[in-house]
Amino acid sequence: MMRIPIIAGNWKMHKTVAQSLEFVDEILPLTAEIKGVKVVLCPPFTALYSMGQRLQGTHIEMGAQDVFWADEGAYTGEISPPMLKDTGSKYAIVGHSERRHQLKETDEDVNQKVKSLLQAGLWPILCVGETLEQRQAGNARQVVKEQLEEGLKDVDTTGTDLVIAYEPVWAIGTGVNASSEDAQDMIGFIRQELAGKFSQEMAERVRILYGGSVKANNIEEFMSQPDIDGALIGGASLQADSLAEIARRAEGIVNG
Ligand code: PGA
Repeated sequence: MMRIPIIAGNWKMHKTVAQSLEFVDEILPLTAEIKGVKVVLCPPFTALYSMGQRLQGTHIEMGAQDVFWADEGAYTGEISPPMLKDTGSKYAIVGHSERRHQLKETDEDVNQKVKSLLQAGLWPILCVGETLEQRQAGNARQVVKEQLEEGLKDVDTTGTDLVIAYEPVWAIGTGVNASSEDAQDMIGFIRQELAGKFSQEMAERVRILYGGSVKANNIEEFMSQPDIDGALIGGASLQADSLAEIARRAEGIVNG
């Protein structure tokens, strides 16, 4: 099955509305000829609506960096799936390690978010990944397996779309990326787990991205691995020329 890879930029807490629009105006022409990979931008909530307007009818898609699981109600400060849809978002990142570790997000929270996104017709980008201590203790696979099991508990994946991002915590924002072999090893394992938990068809349909210090000079190694369907990129997604170069090189591998 042909999975069109995704090159997604996670801007985290960066860029004002004006800066976000400036970025869009810069990257649109730089990526106009790229057909073999999908470019997705995940700005802060505050920029979603304006960016959604600017991206309408273009080749670039948009996602949020988080979501709350209720559609509406007394949840001060939270943003719901229908609200995200309203901005033109197609995706939402859930369970990013910064939220798990600094904001104490649990697997249960993540599970509720995944379900509510799917219900609203949005695509979750579910992040999983082990810490350095967990890897050194030989528990990386077990940790990722549990995050997957809990995060996707009671999720009906029939006909829905889901993206998984494997982001080892020690590789995020550190400049120390996982080797492409280690990333392939874990991502192959994730696909195998999905096949066992859901179905072979579902496992072959789901895109699984690698994230953690992806740059223009290492994207090709990751893209050359059979199970890696793109990347979730923080630091190197903040400059339009850098993200466009990553997308261009990723497409080069896809096109062989
Ligand atoms: P990084 O971040 O590319 O800056 O390592 C990746 C992420 O947190 O998604």
